Amino acid sequence: MAKNKVSLRRKHILGLEDFSREEIELVLETAKEMKSIIHRDIKKVPALRGKSIVTVFYEPSTRTRSSFETAGKYLGADVVNITAGTSSIVKGESLRDTLLTVEAMGFDAIVMRHKQEGAAEYATKVVKHPVIVNAGDGAHAHPSQGLLNLFTLLQYKGRLEGLKVAILGDILHSRVARSDIWGMRRMGIEVHLAGPGTMLPRFLAEEPGIFVHERVEDAIRDADAINVLRIQLERQKAGLFPSKREYARLYGINNARLALAKKDVLILHPGPMNKGLEISPEVAYGDHSAIQEQVQNGVAVRMALLALVLMGGKAQ
Ligand code: NCD
Repeated sequence: MAKNKVSLRRKHILGLEDFSREEIELVLETAKEMKSIIHRDIKKVPALRGKSIVTVFYEPSTRTRSSFETAGKYLGADVVNITAGTSSIVKGESLRDTLLTVEAMGFDAIVMRHKQEGAAEYATKVVKHPVIVNAGDGAHAHPSQGLLNLFTLLQYKGRLEGLKVAILGDILHSRVARSDIWGMRRMGIEVHLAGPGTMLPRFLAEEPGIFVHERVEDAIRDADAINVLRIQLERQKAGLFPSKREYARLYGINNARLALAKKDVLILHPGPMNKGLEISPEVAYGDHSAIQEQVQNGVAVRMALLALVLMGGKAQ
């Protein structure tokens, strides 16, 4: 961090609801510096040398877990991973006991994902020393994903204020949508939501700067970016949409629909994708797609978050 005038006004990263604009800007600026480290030949800086981080994941993950691990390692920290399938969690150990165990080992940060909303906040009440970083709690929040989406938008569009972004699909079950909405609104982005009525929390339409549409076409018209969400098949009760085929036909993003948005529209998707369902392969791998870039930005943003919570953000 070159000009570390502001610092995060929190110990833990639980969600973006109460992040100020200045705090978000601080994370994005720090992430920009971190991204340059990823492009170096030797990607290791000593910023977090001597610090130890544990990731505790009760839900599957490819990108989030490995990018937190990579982020910690690029900054010189020691990183250990605990995943539900290969730990005492399968023997029935409670979340509380797992947290107390890792605290006793001296970890400075616990990056955790859990299917229960509020699990990360609960963790802050269980442990005393470690910082808690929420990597997804049920359908509640996924702050690092919300921040990496903002970082990617800023990279491509050069600004955030005044952008029009459509968020499509399973808003109800999506922690990504929630963190996106909080972060985007704080940064002055106009948010347009669309998806099947059963997956669309209508009360959001009462919030300033948020527009809820029945038809995808209305949400993406003139959009600067479209954030396509994964249908959360594992969180759904049956019957929220008639069939996968119909979903793809009514709500899927394909080249024909893309033509309604701005010419330079950016396509975001947090991954993993259900290709052919919410997004067609030609869009996922097409010229407008920033999906791969999001993955790299995920490492940079997580480096920034870890550096900020563990030592105030200085990379070198
Ligand atoms: C998201 C998640 O786990 O919430 N994925 C991710 O972190 N890259 C989105 C999803 O699973 O649909």
